[in-house]
Order: sequence, then structure tokens, then C-alpha cells
Amino acid sequence: MVFLKKKKSWCISENEVTDECSFHNRRKFLKTLSYLSILPVTLSFSKDVLSSQNYNYSSKINKKYVLDREITDEKLATTYTNFYEFGSSKNIWRRASKLKIDPWDITINGLVDKPIKLDIKKLKKLLGYEERIYRFRCVEAWSMTVPWLGFPFEKIINLVQPTKDAKFVKFETFYDPNVAPGQKQNWYPWPYEEGITIDEAKNDLTFLATGMYGKDLPNQNGAPLRLVLPWKYGFKSIKSIVGIRFVKNRPIGLWEKLAPKEYGFWANVNPDVSHPRWSQEFEKILGYSHVRKTEIFNGYEEQVSYLYKNIHKNDNVMLFK
Ligand code: MTE
Repeated sequence: MVFLKKKKSWCISENEVTDECSFHNRRKFLKTLSYLSILPVTLSFSKDVLSSQNYNYSSKINKKYVLDREITDEKLATTYTNFYEFGSSKNIWRRASKLKIDPWDITINGLVDKPIKLDIKKLKKLLGYEERIYRFRCVEAWSMTVPWLGFPFEKIINLVQPTKDAKFVKFETFYDPNVAPGQKQNWYPWPYEEGITIDEAKNDLTFLATGMYGKDLPNQNGAPLRLVLPWKYGFKSIKSIVGIRFVKNRPIGLWEKLAPKEYGFWANVNPDVSHPRWSQEFEKILGYSHVRKTEIFNGYEEQVSYLYKNIHKNDNVMLFK
């Protein structure tokens, strides 16, 4: 995500600054927004009802998650990416291709009865795959619709059998600054980590992707294994996972460590709670000039709102009103 800047001697604290690229992107976006805000609402949403005609589902499609909106152009979804290990621009796909993903060990341990360490090829064979079409919403207020291949996280839970003390799941990305130049920028607390509650982990939407658009994941989108949490802002969907750990205490993700007031733990999509520096009311659809109204929980309210019933409203600015 954006908004953190290369540290120079004159730098103010990290959570107060914006990198140049995102600054310009955001200016462009705000310009679009202000232009569109004078158009009738119906015009802004005219593409929302398009079906996914431009994509042929695989036979493994999970029909529960088909959407009434157009799939994002594959080229766009795979060349406009956020992967800070390879730099803070969106255009890192060539650099990310240097990451070697074979062999690739994944360790799943912590408060579990059956810890396991295995190569991604074995894990894929063991857990199989299905296809799901999900909305995706970045905290920077752009959005896309992606056909993912992979398996629900519940399958990992069944595999390792967490104990009753496991309250959270912590995810960790690889650390190799020789391959990932962004990791030489030592003001980021590498490796990239993220966390969710055990109840969120058990929700049927929680998905581990091994592919997209009918193929294996490209490196820049998080090969060989990434998390996908479609009701949360995209930074929670951690890429290129090497470790999954069941823990007692709430993990603190990379962005939360850097800027806790901007990138909170919950990070549930909510049009009514602005990011401290911009509104979340609208989202810009990748590939289009128009915007769409942001939906609570990114349109997945029915599936996930029960998870947050007992959480205090002021627990985090990024939760919901
Ligand atoms: N995971 C890692 N390891 N490193 C990252 O920089 N960026 C996050 C998330 N996962 C990121 C990451 C952010 S900010 C977003 S919006 C999504 O990945 C972007 O996913 P995409 O590039 O596949 O669209």
C-alpha cells in the first residue's frame, strides 16, 4: 500500500508521509472522483450489472461465489500489483519473476495437534482446488474481480487440528533481500506478516489461492500460495506465504506496525469509515474510469457480519460504524 516513503534524513514519522507514486496515483484518482461526482449516480454504476461473459469458468467453479460483475482483465490484474518486497511501485511483475518458487516449503505449526512442513506441490495435491470469483478491494480505493483457484482455509484447519488455545492465525511471507530488493529497505519490518482470528479463519470465504485466471499464480500476485479475504482491504491478503502459525495472541501485521492508525487489524471494508487521509465511500474499478459505491464488507455482509457482533465499535477505526 502505498503511502510510506523512502527514509531520508528529513523524514517525518512514517505514518505521516505519502510516497510519490501513490501521491500521484491518488491525485489522479481524486481527479476522477471529483469529475464523476457531478455525474448522475446511475451513470457511475452502469457497468455493475455486466455479467462475467469475458471469462470461461473452469469445471471446478464454486457456483456459490459467482458474481454479477465483469471479471477484471487478466493483464491488468497481473501487472498492476502491490508487492512491496519488490518495490513500492505497482509495476514490479518483471522483478518478481526472479523469485524461485520451486522448491517452496510451507510450515504450519503453533498451537496445533499435527504440525506439518511440506512442499507446495504436496500441499496442492493433498488439498486439491476449486475456482471462486471474488470481489477484491484495496485500501487505496481501487477494486477488481478475480477468478481464484485454491482451497478454503478450513482444509488447513482440518489438516493440522488447532488446539482450543489457538485464537489467531499468523501468516508470514518469505524473507530474501537478495531476490526481493524491497526487503533491503530496512525501515519496513520485514518479513511481511498478517493475522486473522480463528473464527475468521474458519469462515467459508477465507481462501488460500494457488492460482488465478485458470493458471498457477504469477509470482507478482503471490505465488505459490497467498491468502484471499474478500471482505477485508487487500493488504490483509498476504502473498507468497512460507509460514502459517496458530497462536494465542493477536498478531500485528507489517502495515499495522508501521501505521496503526491507518492500517488496523480488522480492516473490514466499510464505506462509512474513511481512511484518515481519504474517503472509502467509492471505489475505482481497475480498467474503467467510473467509480462504484463501496459496499459494507465489500458485499459479503451476509457471510461475515456475525463475526463482528461482539466487537466494540471503537475497537479500531477500520472496523465499521
Ligand atoms: N503481501 C506481501 N507479501 N507483500 C505485499 O506488499 N501487498 C498487499 C497484499 N499482499 C502485499 C501483500 C496489498 S497492499 C494488496 S492491495 C494486495 O496484496 C494486492 O494484491 P494483488 O497485487 O494481487 O492485486
